Amino acid sequence: MSRLVVVSNRVPTPRSNQPQAGGLTVALSGALKRRGGMWFGWNGQLSQGPISRPKLTTHEGIEYATLPLARTDYDDYYLGYSNTVIWPVFHFNLGAMDYHRHYAEGYARVNALFADALTPLLSPDDIVWIHDYHLMPLARELRDRGVTNRIGFFLHIPFPDYDVLRAIPGHRQLIEDLCRFDLLGFQTENDQHAFEESANRAVGALCRQPGQLRHRNRNLQTGVYPVGVDVDELAQLAERTVLAPRVRRLVQGLGDRDLIIGVDRLDYSKGLEQRLRAFELLLKDYAHRRGQTVMMQIASLSRSSISEYADLRARLEGLSGHINGTYGDIDWAPLHYLNKTFARGSIMGLYRAARVGLVTPIRDGMNLVAKEFVTSQDPEDPGVLVLSELAGAAAELDDAVLINPYDIDAIAAGLNQALAMPRPERQRRHTRMMAVLRENDINAWEERFLTDLR
Ligand code: G6P
Repeated sequence: MSRLVVVSNRVPTPRSNQPQAGGLTVALSGALKRRGGMWFGWNGQLSQGPISRPKLTTHEGIEYATLPLARTDYDDYYLGYSNTVIWPVFHFNLGAMDYHRHYAEGYARVNALFADALTPLLSPDDIVWIHDYHLMPLARELRDRGVTNRIGFFLHIPFPDYDVLRAIPGHRQLIEDLCRFDLLGFQTENDQHAFEESANRAVGALCRQPGQLRHRNRNLQTGVYPVGVDVDELAQLAERTVLAPRVRRLVQGLGDRDLIIGVDRLDYSKGLEQRLRAFELLLKDYAHRRGQTVMMQIASLSRSSISEYADLRARLEGLSGHINGTYGDIDWAPLHYLNKTFARGSIMGLYRAARVGLVTPIRDGMNLVAKEFVTSQDPEDPGVLVLSELAGAAAELDDAVLINPYDIDAIAAGLNQALAMPRPERQRRHTRMMAVLRENDINAWEERFLTDLR
């Protein structure tokens, strides 16, 4: 069997016990643990001097090849182009885009640097699987260095409509670069169609039939591969960790109150302000919920030096203080708002202890929290998922209570509906969603993609 070489911007350092936030590392850690292979990318550190070769280590059957980034590369490529140009535009948020030419130069520079470092590590029959928006030019860079391996790309975030995409100066080059892969994978059909239309309008690529593009005498295949979760592993983890002392203390403290839980990176794409406002509205408009409901919102800090993120953090702090100050009582604080990253195990236990999982992104490629919440539930007495219809996960989980994340009245009503839902209906919805999650679990995601790439 040929070796799998996975490339992503962020690679969790082996042996570090640091919990990682974000769906990409969760999905890839699982895939690589099962099949083995090499994981190449940034180690999350800044380099002191010039970067030479990647550091190689092996851990639990995975070979890690990781590099630090120079300060200017971190600023221009990671914070700049990746997260202040591509991330906001691909999440349909043009207002948060801040474009500078030196960001684009940094993006090109780091992709070339990755290609320089990766090329000597490749064997001719390796399968190369590149992940996410940081690395769209990497196939072209590798081809320029004579690499002829099969190279696939998976986009974990949404692909925007062409009229949004074309706000990015240089968007044509991005599309040209994506056309140099052998296979492009997207989370939903929506994303695949948006790409096909953009490829046609931006560079004249011809779509002969869905999934088959022809451009500059080359064929490019595209497909839809929604990321899934490891259902059995997560269900067992939740069953175990709901008994952990920390979770038990929480459950005891709740008494007969219902817990609503939200877990996200602190990011403007996650709809966190609307979510807190909706919780406030629940307490205001549905008075019987006061004193009876506790919301825990975990918002792990992410990309904090970007002003949009720092401003959002300040607003959320104001809102959470306002909610507790206005509605709290001496024996009840309605909102636990935490800027912490928890280990996956503890989170699964918390999900299982909750009556409602609240996931309200204003755009999201998939959102694995939604899938993890459903998987963690006790099938005899499951909690209810309240889910944004603008998350990729909504295409599969239509048995959640679906809401529009911009409509805070609808979120509050959805919360009330979820809290009041009788057990037979909760069980019916949970059983149907579990069937979908089992059918398309993390193994299916990786196997379907790699089979198509081969
Ligand atoms: C999302 C992206 C990933 C990214 C993760 C965490 O899930 O799709 O590519 O790794 O967020 O963000 P960060 O900037 O901390 O890597």
